[in-house]
Amino acid sequence: MRAVLLMLLGLAVGVIATANVMSALSARNPMPKAVMATMNYHFGELKHALKARQCAAAASQLHLQRLQSTALDIVPVFGIPDRAFSDAAQLLQTRVQQATQSAPADCAALAAAIQPIEQACKSCHQKYR
Ligand code: HEC
Repeated sequence: MRAVLLMLLGLAVGVIATANVMSALSARNPMPKAVMATMNYHFGELKHALKARQCAAAASQLHLQRLQSTALDIVPVFGIPDRAFSDAAQLLQTRVQQATQSAPADCAALAAAIQPIEQACKSCHQKYR
């Protein structure tokens, strides 16, 4: 009985310690998640606009530009020294740039502009997330 209790205690301590270490690690550098959350917000706003069928050119442009500048933070913030990772980030930048330049003025144009962006998000996530 005592041995079982000690084992359970050890297990609980292990779980708590692991959780602490993990949260300390992520608290140390909040930036990778912050960059993703920021991109997710702007991308989400574009998708909401599509869903609501309210695709004002100025709003779309604002979110695309915010997406574009935030995407520039991916490589320096993640610090993953992998060529394929920076290529994936570059692909996203190129696609966001193209979307911004296309200056979508209605929902059809916005849908066409953000689809390649979504693919770029997904293809990096499949490999690295
Ligand atoms: C170059 C690779 C790459 C690209 C491109 C990329 N992501 Fe990510 N993303 C990641 C990685 C790696 C993680 C996991 C980060 C972590 O858990 O610390 C992640 C995590 C996330 C998360 C979860 C964040 C959290 O708090 O756990 C969201 C949301 C997200 N990405 C959104 C996006 C969106 C939206 C795009 C496209 C506009 C995008 N990502 C493009 C690599 C990428």
